[in-house]
Amino acid sequence: MQVVHVASEVFPFSRSGGLGDVLGVLPAVQAGLGAEVTVVSPWYADVQEAVTPLWRGVLAGAAGQPPLPEVRVGEVRRGGVRFLFVGLACFDRPGLYHPDDVWRFSLFGRAVLPVLAQLGVRPDVLHGHDWQAGLVVAHARLSGVRSVFSVHNLQYQGRWNLLDGMGWTGLPEWAFTHETLEFHGDVNLMKAGLVFSSQVTTVSPTYAREITTPEFGEGLEGLMTRLRAEGRLSGILNGLDQARWDPASDPDVPVFTDPRGKGAAVAALRAEFGLDGAPILASVSRLAEQKGMDLLIGALPQLVQDWNVVVLGGGDPALEAGLREWAAHPRVVFAQGMNEPLAHRIYAGADAFAMPSRFEPCGLSQMIAMRYGTLPVVRATGGLVDTVPADVGFSFAQASAGALAGACREARAAFDDPAGWEARAARAMRLEFSWDGPAREYLGLYARVLSGAAPAVA
Ligand code: GLC
Repeated sequence: MQVVHVASEVFPFSRSGGLGDVLGVLPAVQAGLGAEVTVVSPWYADVQEAVTPLWRGVLAGAAGQPPLPEVRVGEVRRGGVRFLFVGLACFDRPGLYHPDDVWRFSLFGRAVLPVLAQLGVRPDVLHGHDWQAGLVVAHARLSGVRSVFSVHNLQYQGRWNLLDGMGWTGLPEWAFTHETLEFHGDVNLMKAGLVFSSQVTTVSPTYAREITTPEFGEGLEGLMTRLRAEGRLSGILNGLDQARWDPASDPDVPVFTDPRGKGAAVAALRAEFGLDGAPILASVSRLAEQKGMDLLIGALPQLVQDWNVVVLGGGDPALEAGLREWAAHPRVVFAQGMNEPLAHRIYAGADAFAMPSRFEPCGLSQMIAMRYGTLPVVRATGGLVDTVPADVGFSFAQASAGALAGACREARAAFDDPAGWEARAARAMRLEFSWDGPAREYLGLYARVLSGAAPAVA
């Protein structure tokens, strides 16, 4: 089976968050299971790896559409996977995402299928990820290619006013009704993926249920409810790259294989930041409303009574400023930005890990933390419900600083019973979040999509 993934980021070439992590491992596991796998993503100026140039030229767009701007196509073959990079002038800037992304990913969305055709790649199934790949899914439908579309985060939908947006997409006018791409007077590229794919997935079963409700549906709960009723929406839990995140072989930390061996990593982190003897509660996160980092800041007055608090992350300037201010406190550390080796040292060296997310489609950090025997304190939502067992971590229901502080208090009481804590940590380290199961589930879904009746064009 020839599978083509399309996504806006893929580790290690480009990454801003969990989406890139998923694309960095799922395709290779599927290749290991016998599929022929290609990953298509933008050729950003930031891509550091040596990419082999394959082709350069001007491709015709869809019938009746203006030609595409010049495109450069490059390739890397790695781990049994073929990575194709689509270079367009609009990607020649630093960073991944920009305010004109709806336009940029419209160009990308028009270019992907012509690029594949030019290279002679004929996908049996095209698997698009998040709104940046939504338009590719719509064009796939128009050319009879079957597809699966995965929602990693429903909050970002790729919206722009219809007047500009319609022309950018290269889609015929009938594709802009309320049933298709139109959404409150805008074009919505997430809807393109949802409406035109054969099957929609989200990255955990709980999130797949949550997005059918107004609280989590981001205005698309009606569509999600319909997809679910039609048997077109399901949840497949993400796995974890267990080789990249392995306390037994991690070059960035004093290695260990059980909770007792964790002491050296904890001592190292304590020394690195000059922390006192209180246990360490950490967070490694994008600083965004989604992640509930404002709740964490709101809970700090209580948290510092029981814990040293170490936060690594960047994002929202207001949250960064709030954390910088708190960093003057002897029990608070804020490392701004992203720093992969430091992230490893924190996952390994913390005792507990806070994830007060307002919503969490899957979440990878809690899985990483548990693999290092670091016990998660999580809001009971999405993938956090599906991955954190009650006899390992701690959870709370309400998205409030008080509820978070309460769960951290409970965690601290548990920490003060060393035998009980160690037993929890041992269970955490034994949990399996292999990609093998999810990779097979996706292959099964592709097979169902291929054996089903071909979806009608409109
Ligand atoms: C997004 C979601 C996160 C998920 C990741 C990978 O970043 O916010 O919950 O784990 O995608 O699917």
